[in-house]
Amino acid sequence: MSFSERKPFPSALATAGTMASVQIDAALDGTSGPIAAAMMYASQGGKGLRAFLVLETARLHHIAPLAAAPAAGAIEAIQAYSLVHDDLPCMDDDDLRRGRPTVHRKWDEATAVLAGDALQTLAFELVAQTDCPDAGRLDLMTSLARAAGIRGMVGGQALDIAAETADAPLSLDEIITLQDGKTGALIQWSAMAGPRMAQADTGALETYARNLGLAFQIADDILDVEGDVATLGKAVGKDANAGKATFVSLLGLDGAKQRAQGLVDAACDALTVYGDEAETLREAARFVISRKS
Ligand code: IPE
Ligand code: IPE
Ligand code: MG
Ligand code: MG
Ligand code: MG
Repeated sequence: MSFSERKPFPSALATAGTMASVQIDAALDGTSGPIAAAMMYASQGGKGLRAFLVLETARLHHIAPLAAAPAAGAIEAIQAYSLVHDDLPCMDDDDLRRGRPTVHRKWDEATAVLAGDALQTLAFELVAQTDCPDAGRLDLMTSLARAAGIRGMVGGQALDIAAETADAPLSLDEIITLQDGKTGALIQWSAMAGPRMAQADTGALETYARNLGLAFQIADDILDVEGDVATLGKAVGKDANAGKATFVSLLGLDGAKQRAQGLVDAACDALTVYGDEAETLREAARFVISRKS
């Protein structure tokens, strides 16, 4: 079986973001009112990294882009929901997201809570439309529920909030556990989506994604210190102010950068089994720590 054509990372990322948006827009077709408007608004303007990981790992497993597109839309809907809730006053209390007012600032808190809730359920409506064998689709749905929930993103978010008021700073192992849930779980789900659809071995991509996810969050923590609001599209300097437990708070900027580079190297090494076809995933890993937004 041949691969569909491999594209370089920047164009693959742009395509993935567009494909995810098209899926979400189609799922919202015929809806109206402020919650629908807020859902649409919240799902626009992201980088689309998670959608890219779904589509690229699907490609590596000979799954056509259109077959995998609903899963790409699903993870971007979960991502959008997680950010809408992350920005709420009871969480990180942020006014700016993706260069625009956060949903609770543009509308109100009730709209933000409900739009987030509905984006989450929309994700499951979408992932159920993935065009692959039933066993692969069931695996995708179950693993997405797990990745987004108490064992994944929500669990990590809870640790993140608890750490703000903890008596002692977290250890490196505790920070890794926190980040592995908060950011890692959705990235891991995205990168394992391809082999799951094909009912193939997920091992190599799990290792890739575990390292990539940590590198991604370290870069997010570094950008919170070194980034620029206009480029980043969200506030900076928030983590230290809020007493967040981050790799930067524990390792310092230089230590965090070294750690991130080591993780990117490990992520790339994990792809050997896919040979040259995985070059776009390697480019993505390098992008994650060089990005400015
Ligand atoms: C932001 O993720 C939230 C974190 C997990 C740090 P991204 O930086 O991928 O956000 P978007 O989706 O591109 O806006
Ligand atoms: C949020 O992490 C990750 C989510 C699960 C939404 P952050 O709080 O560090 O993300 P930003 O910095 O607000 O994008
Ligand atoms: Mg947060
Ligand atoms: Mg935040
Ligand atoms: Mg952050």
